[in-house]
Amino acid sequence: MVKKYDRHVLHENPKIEVVHIKWPPGAESRPHDHGKSYGKVKVLSGKVFQLVFDKKTKKFLRRDVMVAGDVMIETPDLIHIMGNDSKTEIAETLHVYTPKLVMKYYSLAMFKWPGMPKLKKKRRRKSWPPKENLTKKWGPKL
Ligand SMILES: [Fe+2]
Repeated sequence: MVKKYDRHVLHENPKIEVVHIKWPPGAESRPHDHGKSYGKVKVLSGKVFQLVFDKKTKKFLRRDVMVAGDVMIETPDLIHIMGNDSKTEIAETLHVYTPKLVMKYYSLAMFKWPGMPKLKKKRRRKSWPPKENLTKKWGPKL
């Protein structure tokens, strides 16, 4: 089972949203976009990853790793999964969005992963997405 993360909204109004996220070891988000918002994310501590998908084809594009001090940009056309890249250390990130974030979540079954098994339709409905940590099982080996 994928571990959840702690999300705390520090400030919000219709034009801006500031969020602090604490990522326990093994925590990751579901696939999501950022609506019409642009975001800037700074890694405050630890090491986080993101898995980026093509919004149109739903294909996996790349895996990025960011450490304390790194900054990443989130755009309206981005779909990604974020998570803690460490098995032992907590990671923390600070997110600023404008306008206020309205996220859309996606089912893992919508995405095409390298090495993803071709399952029969009946079995696929029951077993995909898996309940275990998806990125560890199907993510690229680095
Ligand atoms: Fe995001």
